[in-house]
Amino acid sequence: MYLRFAVSLAVLGALPMAAADPFAQNRILGRAINLPGVFDRNPDRGPIPDPPLKPEYFRKMKDAGFQSVRLVIRWSSYAATDAPYKIDSDFQRKVDWAVEQCLANKLAVLLDFHYYPLISFTGRETSTEDPKKNRERFLALWTQLEDHYKNSPPQVMFGLLNEPSRQNLGTEGWNALVAETLPIMRRHNPDRTILIQSANGGGFGSLEGLKIPAAERNAIVEVHYYSPGKFTHQQAPWSNDRIYKDILWTGTDEEKKPITDDFAKVAAWAKKNNRPIYLGEFGAYRAADMPSRARWTAFIARTAEQLGMSWAYWGFWRCGFDVFDAQTETFTEPLLKALVP
Ligand code: GLC
Repeated sequence: MYLRFAVSLAVLGALPMAAADPFAQNRILGRAINLPGVFDRNPDRGPIPDPPLKPEYFRKMKDAGFQSVRLVIRWSSYAATDAPYKIDSDFQRKVDWAVEQCLANKLAVLLDFHYYPLISFTGRETSTEDPKKNRERFLALWTQLEDHYKNSPPQVMFGLLNEPSRQNLGTEGWNALVAETLPIMRRHNPDRTILIQSANGGGFGSLEGLKIPAAERNAIVEVHYYSPGKFTHQQAPWSNDRIYKDILWTGTDEEKKPITDDFAKVAAWAKKNNRPIYLGEFGAYRAADMPSRARWTAFIARTAEQLGMSWAYWGFWRCGFDVFDAQTETFTEPLLKALVP
């Protein structure tokens, strides 16, 4: 098995780099699934199992029709808190195992950078972090990661940061951080595709303010979509929309219009700026009724596809939006059908 993987990597590595074209890379991401609940878990909850999850789950993702996996990773919880901020080698090995499983199943991989204190959405508004040290640590983590993955095939892509903080970065702060981080990520990875989100949590409304250095051509722009929040996040404990309940989404023209309008604006921005778009997260929390969730999910996925966007559903499991049931080890049919008809 290991030998077969090594051979397949060598073959992939020998292919001419299509990686320079981010539009082609975005088509490789295609229909994706977020994998939370493994590499983003709080270390207080005990060690990550070894292997981290059943290897056959990757085959199940592939067989279900997904083309890539967004690996949700909380690097900051598995790295030293003092310089040079070394990433825990056992954690790194486990992430690499998942990357290998993806590639062996012909699934592309996005290495997502989730829940980084202060500068990305963490679910907590306050933090005791020292901002200067925190930022130095962020850059140090990328210094290590980009070196570590420098020989990976082009199907392995980097996500610069998940859901940049509205409070602590805003638009200007985010643009500055992108400009500062990109040269580090590019040291040994001149041809790797990098995903860059819009400011303020990856919101559609923040695209207009996004500044990616003009010379950076191998970037895909990532946005997230959970509108209307009172439907997708009703009862979700971490959300302001938790106050809502019994909100349906029946797919009327009135319900579709704001969504279609939102997506049209993103598509117009993409065209004007000549950047491909990856809808890196969307989903409706389990408190909503299943027919509504399925209708909304299908509508979002098709709308994105019609506009040439790739997408990643949030998420596989352990997130409250689960499309996979670990008890029965099967996909929840209405949601899977909505995603991959
Ligand atoms: C973001 C958050 C995650 C949350 C999801 C849906 O990915 O990081 O914690 O579950 O959005 O709200």
